[in-house]
Amino acid sequence: MTQVKFHSGAAIPLEMHKVRIVQKLRLLPVEDRVAAMNAAGNNTFLLQNADVFMDMLTDSGVNAMSDRQQSAMLLADDAYAGSATYTRLAEKLREIFGMEFFLPTHQGRAAENIISETLVTPGSVVPMNYHFTTSKAHITHRGGEVVELIRPEGLEVTSTLGFKGNLDAAALAELAASGRHIAYVRVELGTNLIGGQPLSLANLREIRQVCDEFGLLLVLDASLLADNLYFIREREPGYADVPVAAIAREIADLSDVLYFSARKLGHARGGGICLRERALHDRMRSLVPFFEGFLTYGGMSVREMEAITVGLEETMDPDMISQGPLFIRYMVDSLVARGVPMITPAGGLGAHVNAMEFLAHVPQTQYPAGALAAALYIAGGIRGMERGTMSEQRNPDGSEPLANMELLRLALPRRVFTLSQVEYAIDRLTWLHENRELVGGLEFVEEPPVLRFFYGRLEPTSDWQQQLAAKFRADFGDSL
Ligand SMILES: Cc1ncc(COP(=O)(O)O)c(C=O)c1O
Repeated sequence: MTQVKFHSGAAIPLEMHKVRIVQKLRLLPVEDRVAAMNAAGNNTFLLQNADVFMDMLTDSGVNAMSDRQQSAMLLADDAYAGSATYTRLAEKLREIFGMEFFLPTHQGRAAENIISETLVTPGSVVPMNYHFTTSKAHITHRGGEVVELIRPEGLEVTSTLGFKGNLDAAALAELAASGRHIAYVRVELGTNLIGGQPLSLANLREIRQVCDEFGLLLVLDASLLADNLYFIREREPGYADVPVAAIAREIADLSDVLYFSARKLGHARGGGICLRERALHDRMRSLVPFFEGFLTYGGMSVREMEAITVGLEETMDPDMISQGPLFIRYMVDSLVARGVPMITPAGGLGAHVNAMEFLAHVPQTQYPAGALAAALYIAGGIRGMERGTMSEQRNPDGSEPLANMELLRLALPRRVFTLSQVEYAIDRLTWLHENRELVGGLEFVEEPPVLRFFYGRLEPTSDWQQQLAAKFRADFGDSL
């Protein structure tokens, strides 16, 4: 993908695949989009997919599969116990990561459940570069505390640093020396909540050193491994020509446990935990039949497991892992050129809009990133995801922790959108930015106590949505 130059000199990411199965889309008129947003409680998670034109909510479980994945699904060995499909998956993971043991789970958070249940005790701490919503929820649910040790540059909105997901290894050593009980160290690749920002291999080596010095277990969240592999090849000195598989092995070799959501890694639906040590494997294994299912499927369909095996193999192909980051960079660079505040440098997963600056007039207590998500759906039928204060959990005393960043995440599920659809998203977001003063805040009317962003309901603080729709009509005439 990176090798193809255009005679015109234009920097256009060229797809190294062709589309052979399509799904029809529907774009509602703007007035219907306002109605749909309100029916969904101003929460993009609660929209009906049929009402969405571009679904940029997530890349989770919605990446396009390859023909090889689809055909492998037909060969799945459907057995409750001892399925050959499971053996193929376990062997592929062993080949890539070099870890002896594999425990299947139905998705990434199920792996987090088993890891936390085994290792987290009340009062223990889990240091990490940055939390992910479900990882934090599982740890705090068991009385543990998450300590984020992201390096300060990780929280800088605009930057030229290539590895904003790096963990402060000196701070980790200090925490370990403090005598607090550390359940394990969690390192997240392609750090989700700060804009899909990668971590360098050099940083992972530093973290490993601290873990060795203090006898700490290093658990890697490899859900976003594919993007991180791409960025190591692109940005880390000396890795440009190293095969993807060799980098994947080097990453795995530095960790003790590696878990993943196969809704992301492997482009299918499932998850699992890879381990090196038998004793720890045995402890975790006892929980698989309890929460997931028998040991040779772990809650996954055998068809999905076949697709994961092929998807993992395809993840070692530079053409495959570059598609997402290159489309994201195209989108981010185009928006920055039009004056829209974006997280830079472009990371993996999706394009991240800095809602704190985009809607500087909306206070954080009125959820600017959530309001921007609602506004973009109204402006273009585009569904993004709030990643800011709404995605945080209230403190035990009921007070609200304000997020470090207010992001609207526009995920680019891999190989799903065409470049003209990406251009459409850029166009509508640019229009919204020019009309940003019309956008107001949101307030909760139904607020679940845990992971409230999934199914909480909100209302606009004024009639700003009607005003935005009227401006759309005035500017776009009878266009959808
Ligand atoms: C970094 C990371 N960890 C864990 C998970 C949880 O995975 P799942 O959605 O499969 O439960 C996700 C999902 O988005 C993720 O991005």
